[in-house]
Amino acid sequence: MSEIDSVLKETRSFPPPAAFQARARLKSEAEYQALWRESIADPQGFWGRMAREIPWMQPFTQVLDWSNAPFARWFVGGRLNASAVCVDQHLARHGAKRAIVWEGEPGDTRTWTYAQLHAEVCRLANALKERGVKKGDRVAIYMPMVPELAAALLACARIGAAHSVVFGGFSAQSLKDRIEDGGCTAVITADGSWRRGKLLPLKSVVDEALASCKGVHTALVVKRAGCEVAWDARRDVWYHELVARQSATRAPEPMDSEDLLFLLYTSGSTGKPKGIMHTTGGYVLGAALSARYVFDLRDEDVYWCTADVGWVTGHSYVVYGPLANAATIVMYEGAPDAPHRGRFWELVQKHKVTILYTAPTAIRTFMRWGDEHVTKHDLSSLRLLGTVGEPINPAAWMWYRDTIGGGRCPIVDTWWQTETGSIAITPLPGVTATRPGSATRPFFGIDPVVLDKHGAEVPAGSGGLLALRKPWPSMLRGIWGDPERYRQTYWSKFPGYYFPGDGCRKDADGYYWIMGRVDDVIKVSGHRLATMEIESALVSHPDVAESAVVGRPDELSGEAVVAFVTLKPHAVTSDALKETLRAHVAKEIGSLARPAEVRWAAALPKTRSGKIMRRLLRDIAAGRETAQDTSTLEDFSVLATLRAAEDDE
Ligand code: WT7
Repeated sequence: MSEIDSVLKETRSFPPPAAFQARARLKSEAEYQALWRESIADPQGFWGRMAREIPWMQPFTQVLDWSNAPFARWFVGGRLNASAVCVDQHLARHGAKRAIVWEGEPGDTRTWTYAQLHAEVCRLANALKERGVKKGDRVAIYMPMVPELAAALLACARIGAAHSVVFGGFSAQSLKDRIEDGGCTAVITADGSWRRGKLLPLKSVVDEALASCKGVHTALVVKRAGCEVAWDARRDVWYHELVARQSATRAPEPMDSEDLLFLLYTSGSTGKPKGIMHTTGGYVLGAALSARYVFDLRDEDVYWCTADVGWVTGHSYVVYGPLANAATIVMYEGAPDAPHRGRFWELVQKHKVTILYTAPTAIRTFMRWGDEHVTKHDLSSLRLLGTVGEPINPAAWMWYRDTIGGGRCPIVDTWWQTETGSIAITPLPGVTATRPGSATRPFFGIDPVVLDKHGAEVPAGSGGLLALRKPWPSMLRGIWGDPERYRQTYWSKFPGYYFPGDGCRKDADGYYWIMGRVDDVIKVSGHRLATMEIESALVSHPDVAESAVVGRPDELSGEAVVAFVTLKPHAVTSDALKETLRAHVAKEIGSLARPAEVRWAAALPKTRSGKIMRRLLRDIAAGRETAQDTSTLEDFSVLATLRAAEDDE
């Protein structure tokens, strides 16, 4: 019996276009097979060789120490600096090459060459030092998509402080929780930013977050929007004042390969957000190598990953991966429909973008907006397209291929996670025959298997749980402050194997088809949200007694948040209260978590042991007949009542 029913049957196959393949870094199945097999059979030899391609300040003496599994140490004894890998190593050959091509939402543009990026990173590193930031400290970054954001990550890395980037859409409360959990002592932010012509007041969110955070001594503020801001002269300092007067040189700190490079918070099914830990050597190698092979980066490429640096995609494939390869990256501050729905395509044309990496939710939105916004722009510069963040439905894949890629660009559907650090299952564009909806096959060093819940491999074609059988260099090193939770969450389901929490099917040709999360985590517009955190936000409202949050399929966002809410006896149901609760969640967590729908529930369906029957709620939320066995349901009338409530609305 299969663990998960897989219903997608897709048989179309697209070999790499001949013109692409002829110039690709990897051109043949044999090359891929040889490298992948070596990476699995002899990881020490393979990774040792790959790692020697990045510049070390001191060579490593051992490739992998797995003796204390699941706590890995890669490139033991080696010293390097991530900012030197991304910037300094390119100065001699590429100092005058464009590193960052930036476009603000209002249409203002800036370009930094590698030499300019180097100077900015050094000045900012010196500025952080002047403010007392030390090696080993953590620095929170809460910024819009401006070039200084990339500089901020690299400047932290340069002095050996770990960064903890918090996406600019998170609320003051979420920012505060992350600052406190990580023990951050400084924050880098901006006065504000532009989104659909509206001002996002980032500094005031930081002020609110810091009002009750004791440990932060510095808030460094980039002037972006020119808006009014409150000022605490002991703590706040303008970026342009402090950074401008610093020296434009600073030697990079020689960091141990296993020194913390960054924390990035992500949602899990239980408890508070997890501070995922990534260290220096393995992470940088994973990001650099995957960017080079998956995006087939060449010197003349103009590469645009549309993700915000607040997510791991932005860390690995806006900043570290492409810059380690001396690529020219495009950064865009604003919304895809500002001031019009063709903005992305206008940018592709204007900057002659050759590689575009974006999310399925964005692709579905563009599809809905209509081809006319696309076709009036010249997209002939594009040669490769990528997607990430959630499964892509074949219809969206085909549209991406034909309408954006003109039928000539390979598509790389890349599966990975905050925890994997870099792309793990993916086509290689000059090698792999792609299939719409499949992330295809493992990248180097990744040894996937699909298991049933007892840990037995399921037969080809059946759904099951994805697991990875080997450690890989860019894997997470732990959860900040909670090693036990790390072991529990990722390594206890199938002892010895890493458990990503995704359902998957492997077909008879060895292609992997990711089927989405199997835990209580939903993906809204590609962003991972824990239902449990939204539930806690709801219960923090004085009128709410209990709530259960589930995802329902949504054509645009992939999944939408549906909240079933039981009110306290004094509270009265009303549409106004629904609105209040939706706004409450947005305030507590950020608008990305705002429920699409709030439903009243006199009681929630629970098993006799008191567990909320989420699958059943998912069926109700999606308007499906339930396939779930309800024999353990404590009070069967609850189900009937919930359905009746649905008919009333
Ligand atoms: C989860 C990780 C990886 C960077 C952005 C998201 C889902 C990601 C794919 C894909 C199907 C995908 C998985 C995964 N996911 N990429 N190509 N096909 N599903 O990072 O927030 O850590 O989320 O996103 O469910 O576990 P994240």
